[in-house]
Amino acid sequence: MLVAPSILSADFGKLNDEIKAICEGGCDLVHVDVMDGHFVPNLTIGPVVVSAVAKVATKPLDIHLMVENNSFFVDLFAPLKPEYISFHIEEEKHPHRLIQKIRGLGIKPAITLNPHTPPESIEYLLEDLDMVLLMSVNPGFGGQKFIPSVVEKAKKLKELINKRNPNCLIEVDGGVNDKNIQELKNAGVDIVVAGSYVYGASDYSTAIKSLQI
Ligand code: DX5
Ligand code: ZN
Repeated sequence: MLVAPSILSADFGKLNDEIKAICEGGCDLVHVDVMDGHFVPNLTIGPVVVSAVAKVATKPLDIHLMVENNSFFVDLFAPLKPEYISFHIEEEKHPHRLIQKIRGLGIKPAITLNPHTPPESIEYLLEDLDMVLLMSVNPGFGGQKFIPSVVEKAKKLKELINKRNPNCLIEVDGGVNDKNIQELKNAGVDIVVAGSYVYGASDYSTAIKSLQI
């Protein structure tokens, strides 16, 4: 299991140290939550701050857009050369076109599904995707409770992926900790995002390693 700590739960007063600590602590990706105050009721960081993150991070960036007007935000973040950019299917009229745009910029495209959105809704996009991000909380805030139905959803998605594009990875985001990591692994999940579990721990490295099962 790969682990992408979400910097949303980091101490932004010492962001450089917080990024270094997870990278030296052995994380696989650095998860960046971009919220616009419209698609979700919270507002986070833009390219100015994320470029500072990119400078100090020694692991690839995983940018999770929670915004209206996805294409505009893709243009803002593409120069930072993230590994992945994911956008919410609930907010995109032309997902196939946006996937092509992201790939054309040399970035791996991913789609995010809110807790209510069925995996079948993106079946015919799977062959064009590198990753699907399943939300296991309602997007907008760190530190929320894990929604257990995501486990069944991950299993269904895994079946579709096996049929359509076995190279596509499954990522789960929200409320992930050492209690639910095994069932996520069993369901076929490849990457987990963990914010409060990692940044709330006294030793980030131990917390990260406890999820890398
Ligand atoms: C929620 C974000 C998550 C969040 C995860 O909208 O997408 O990445 O920061 O935080 P935890 O692990 O605390 O649920
Ligand atoms: Zn996220």
